[in-house]
Formats: sequence, structure tokens, C-alpha cells
Amino acid sequence: MKFDFDKVTDRSGTNSVKWNVRSGELPMWVADMDFVTAPAITEAIVKRAQHGIFGYSTLPDEWYTAYINWWEKRHALRFEKQELLFSTGVIPTISCCIRALTEENDKVLILSPVYYVFYKLIKQNGRSVLDCPLTYHDGQYDIDFDALEKALADEKTKLMILSNPHNPVGKIWSKDTLAQIGELAEEHGVTVLSDEIHCDLTDPDKEYVPYFSSSQKCADNGIVCISPTKAFNLAGIKTSAVVIKDASLRAKVRRELSLNILSEPNAFAVQAAVAAFEQGGEWLDELREYLFENKQAVAQFLENNIPKVRLVPSEATYLLWLDCTALGIGSKELTEHIRSSTGLFLTDGEPFGGDGFLRLNIACPRIMLMNGLERLKKAIDLL
Ligand SMILES: Cc1ncc(COP(=O)(O)O)c(C=O)c1O
Repeated sequence: MKFDFDKVTDRSGTNSVKWNVRSGELPMWVADMDFVTAPAITEAIVKRAQHGIFGYSTLPDEWYTAYINWWEKRHALRFEKQELLFSTGVIPTISCCIRALTEENDKVLILSPVYYVFYKLIKQNGRSVLDCPLTYHDGQYDIDFDALEKALADEKTKLMILSNPHNPVGKIWSKDTLAQIGELAEEHGVTVLSDEIHCDLTDPDKEYVPYFSSSQKCADNGIVCISPTKAFNLAGIKTSAVVIKDASLRAKVRRELSLNILSEPNAFAVQAAVAAFEQGGEWLDELREYLFENKQAVAQFLENNIPKVRLVPSEATYLLWLDCTALGIGSKELTEHIRSSTGLFLTDGEPFGGDGFLRLNIACPRIMLMNGLERLKKAIDLL
């Protein structure tokens, strides 16, 4: 490997949310990585920093071109420049879309278990969460299309938020599934927002399906949120894009982003995104290999040492979904027990809609991962 993902980097003193933990604790929760980003990205940021003047920034053509080329080459999907809007982040964009496209007390549909922040955004904006739980059989999550159609047909449902690939279960939605969602959503006048922030973090031999590629209806009626921040570990840079083909839908979202002052890039947002998409491909592919090996290490460790904890098979993201239901303990209590007995800090599945499950972030050097797994074993043995 050209890049050293085994290297442990001390993150103390960087105001890291993830590492804001007690001495000796090991955080494997919030979705950022313990790897330094691609060297080309750091170089681009340093070059910009060395200029020394950090006034207001515009969006140059190269920002659009970087996204367009990356999606065309990596994901065989063509965006047009006018379809892309800048936003400081995917979460702020989703919040804006909820406000722009729904009224108070309208329903926003989600498929649980799903990224817990979706619930918060819907509730904080005064809308109701309409949950259409995924089915779960033999470690496989799927959509219950009868239930989905009923939920979409509810006249209060105006927006559906999809995680593609799906956080936390790591599922890549198939073209047929996405097309079917798009078909039903259009029939019932519901806009679909596909959050594709994890799309570049698929297993080495796997490709995600962009929502817009699945059918013309999906493209016409959809909103897609994308960003280099998950794949290249740039969450703190605050840089993302939203793609909307339909002009009137786009105007509504643009207005809300602008009202909330989210459409202006900071001094590093453009440089980081351009460097990632133009020069980060090789680094990303090595990262995906490393993450895949980490995933296999977890699968093997659980099988050999903690057989009661089942790893839900995943094809994407560095977030693993652990089925701990056989332990017969709620996930809040379990998370607290693991943390207090061993210092390992995992994410409680309950706020995702997955009580009895834990989410494990494996984006760290293998030595840290193995340390985390040993702690997990110790905590489970103590139960
Ligand atoms: C599905 C999903 N969407 C959005 C985000 C965060 O997006 P941003 O940092 O751009 O607001 C995350 C972070 O974990 C995520 O998992």
C-alpha cells in the first residue's frame, strides 16, 4: 500500500467531538475516521492557508467540474452545472428541505433503523416522523413495499428521506428498489431526498447505485445530497453539495439554503472538495481495501470470541451494525455497561430505531480496532 492506514495519530488537542472522552477511553462511535486524509487534500488546504487572507469566497467553476467529473467517472452519472448547489453540510441541507417542502405537522417518511439525526431534524422543524421500519430476517434488511405504499399514500406525507447506502445497516439499495421507491413516491406526490454521503465508501468490489441513475422518475422528482466529507474524513471542513434536476424544486431549496446562510463556502471548502475529487481517488481505493480488511477482522473476531453478537452483513460505510439482541439487554444499558467497564464508547442503536443493536465505527488503524474488540469481549464476558 502507498498510504499508511496503520499509523496511529494522536487526535488530542484538536477539539475532536469523537475524542472528547475520559482518559483511557476508546471512542468508536461518531462517524469520522482516525486516519489522516489524502496528502493532496492537506497540501491544498495548507497552500490556501499560506496565502494568509481568508475573506469571503465564491464558488469557482472548478468546484462544479470536480463533482461532475467524479460522478461521471466513478458512478457513471452525469450532472449539469446548474443542478448543483453548494451547502455547508448534508444535515443543514436536509433541515432546509424539510422546511422548504413540507408544512408544520406534515409527515416525513423514514426507513428505520436509520441515522438518528433524521428523527431530530424532522421533530425540531415541527414535522412528524412517519416510520416505515425495514424488515429484518436472517441478518438481511429490506423494504416492506406494502407498508411503504401505505405510508406514501398518507396525504400528510410530503417528503421521504432515504439513506443510500444505508446508515447504519450498510446496505446498498439496488436499482430496482430505488426505481420502485421513485415510482411510488411520484404516484403519491412525495419528494424523495436521497442522502448519499456514504456512497464512496463501498466494499472494494461493490458500486452504489445513485438514486438519479435508477429511473427517469427518480431523477425528475428527487433531491440528492453528496459530499467528500465522509469518504475523505473532512467533516470539520463543512463542504457538500445538493443536486436537484427539477428547476422549481431546486429554486425552493436554494431559497431556504440562502435564507439560512448555508450556501457560502468557507475559505477551505472549495479547495478541500476539489483536491479530494481530483486527486484523492487512489487514496480512497486503498482506504476501501483497508476498511474491508477491518470489517473481515471484526467478523472473524465476533465469530471466534463473542458468538452471541452478530454482525449484520454490510456492503458499504465504515459503520457496522451489531445485533446484540441475543444478550437480552437494552442497547442503552449495554452501551453504558461497555463504556463503564472497559472505556469502549460505541453508539447505542436505540435512537436509530434499533434497540438491542450497537453501531461500531471501524475507521481506525487495525491495532485500535483490535483493542476495541478485546474491550467488547471483556464487557460482554462481564455481563
Ligand atoms: C447518513 C448521514 N448523513 C449526513 C451525515 C452528516 O452530514 P454533514 O456532516 O455533511 O452535515 C452523516 C454523518 O454521520 C450521515 O451518516
